[in-house]
Formats: sequence, structure tokens, C-alpha cells
Amino acid sequence: MVTLEEAKRAFIPKLRPLRWDRERHVLTILDQTLLPFEVYWVEAKDPSQIAEAIKSMRVRGAPAIGIAAAYGMVTALNSPTNDIKESLNALAKAKLQLDAARPTAVNLSWATSRMLSKANRLVHEGEAKKVDELKELLEEEANRVYEEELEAELKIGIYGFEKLNDGDVVLTQCNAGGLATGTGLGTALAPVKLARALGVNVSVVAPETRPWLQGSRLTAYELMTDGVPVTLISDTAVGLVLYKKMVNSVMVGADRILADGHVFNKVGTFKEAVIAHELGVPFYALAPTSTLDLRSSVEEVKIEERSPDEVRTVRGVPVAPEGVKVYNPVFDVTPPKYVTAIITEAGIIYPPFEKNVRKIANM
Ligand code: MRU
Repeated sequence: MVTLEEAKRAFIPKLRPLRWDRERHVLTILDQTLLPFEVYWVEAKDPSQIAEAIKSMRVRGAPAIGIAAAYGMVTALNSPTNDIKESLNALAKAKLQLDAARPTAVNLSWATSRMLSKANRLVHEGEAKKVDELKELLEEEANRVYEEELEAELKIGIYGFEKLNDGDVVLTQCNAGGLATGTGLGTALAPVKLARALGVNVSVVAPETRPWLQGSRLTAYELMTDGVPVTLISDTAVGLVLYKKMVNSVMVGADRILADGHVFNKVGTFKEAVIAHELGVPFYALAPTSTLDLRSSVEEVKIEERSPDEVRTVRGVPVAPEGVKVYNPVFDVTPPKYVTAIITEAGIIYPPFEKNVRKIANM
């Protein structure tokens, strides 16, 4: 098995969409609404600006919105106050604002809860007596969220690499690469990137992922930047590609994975999983353990619905009769029976998931 040190040496991230300015306490975000046509960075200096960037999907992907939200919590302390209690209130308010930005990815509330608990602990245990101290320690915590994510992805890459053979082609969905995680590496794309970096010949088939086109705009761009061969297909070609055995496995990311193994991910994932299962192609969900939600039931998870105009138009150009009724859910849920394994930084989880997900989560 490849070691963490070997993986770190092999893969140098190129596309890192989040930059934290340590001097000014501002998050700079690569605007993913404009890629690949324009490389444009926006600055966010308070929780409302970071919530807006998440809502509008300038920053998107479960781990990346978690990292952005962690820094968003630090920016809650940008407004001048010397009152530590006022700062804790500002953090509680920022958490509500950030959590409300998008409903499906659990990483968002996971990150804000971690930051808020840390702040409360620091203040109540007397480690942070002044607002400046609190801010510095919270900034370190947000940096840790980022560093831990990067290390988790390297480990996911190592475990996922074990599932690949020379010459393999992997079908993915959406963009679960470094643009979606903030690190430049990714979850679903980590094994193929690591494989290529180690000289193993693998490639990717990326469905375009209507309506937002994460596959064509982001995955194709990211993989081309990283030197991984990629073939773009329309979403409607997924069945044929699997039927013709043009891919050896399916590797997707996740926005939330429940204790019983239900996988919430970009709409279209469920269809891939069912067809793959039917045709005997392995289907893997790759995600850090921060994506595990051990508390919710399937019915409790809210699947985000976005504007009908995302479906009526393609990047502003109408493709349907004006005013047509639209249903635009942007995630779906894959039942555990279609999931071959869940690949996390703590190991590979095989069925029965209702027993094994908790085992990994509690490690
Ligand atoms: O709506 P998006 O673009 O935020 O959806 C992203 C996905 O569905 C990803 O597959 C998921 O967040 C995992 S990212 C590593």
C-alpha cells in the first residue's frame, strides 16, 4: 500500500480555490460560477459574504463549503468589540447564517459546530480571555479543518488507489475534486490523481451534470489541469457507457452519508449506482468522515431545490418554453444496496453498513 509520505510527495495540488489571508482575515474564493471561462477571485470578509458565496455556489462541494464556513466563523470576529461574550454571540449568529446557506451537505454544520464548540470551550476554560486571543485560536482551528481535510483526501486517495488497475477508466458524477474540497486534491478524484502521479495509466469519464454543469465546466477543467485524461459525456449517455463496459468502476463524492449507508450526492448519482449494480460494475462513494451523519434518517435530510431557471436555461440562454413548470432537485439519495463500499480516510467500509459505518465513525 502507498504510504502517506509517498502520496504527499507524488501529488502536488494545482487548483486550490480557497485562500485565507492571515493578515487581513479575509477569505479569497475562486468563483466557480465563472469557471472555466473566467478565472476570477472574490473576497469575503464577514459571515454574510461567505454565506452568500456558498448560496450562489461561488464555492461549492461539501468539504469546500465546510472549510469556507470554518473561516466564515473566524470572520465573525472581524467587527470591533472587546467584549468576549459579545464575540460568542456573534459566533452563534454566524453559525445560523452559514448553516442556512445550503441544506444538504452535512460538512457545513459539522464545521460551524466544531468552531462554535471550540470557541465556547476556549472562553469557558479561560484559555481565551481577550477577543484577539479567541480570534487567533479560532483561526488556528480553521487552519486545522483545512489541513485535516487535505490529509483525509490523501488517505482516501491511497485506499481508493487499491481499487484501481492499470488501464482502468472511472465514471464519476459532478465535481468531487479539489475544487469541491478546497484543497486541490478531492475525494472521488483523489485515487485517479494519485494513480496518475505514480505513473499508473487511468482515466475518467465525466458526465456533464446538468443543470449546473459541474462535470463539463469543473471536472473536465480540473482533470485537464492535473494532467488526467478525461472524456466528457452527456448525462443521458451514462447507461450506454456502463452497458458497453467502457468504465471499470464508478467513483463519486458525497454530501452526506447516513449510518445505514444511504449516500446523498449530486443528482444523477442514484441512476449511476442502479445501472452499475445491475451490470456488476463496482460503485464507490468516497468521502471524509466529516460527511458521515449518524443522527439523521433518510426522511429528515433536506434535498436542496434550486431555481427553475437553472433548468429552463443553459448559462442564461433559454432552452425551454418560457414559464414551463420545473422541478429542480440538485441532490439525490442512493440506497445502501447499490453501494459496493464507502471509502473514507479511516478505511474502506463494506456492507453491512448499519454496523460498519458506526465502527469507522467511532475509531
Ligand atoms: O451542488 P454542488 O456542486 O455543491 O454538489 C457537489 C457534489 O454533489 C459533490 O459530489 C459532493 O459535494 C462531494 S465533493 C467532494
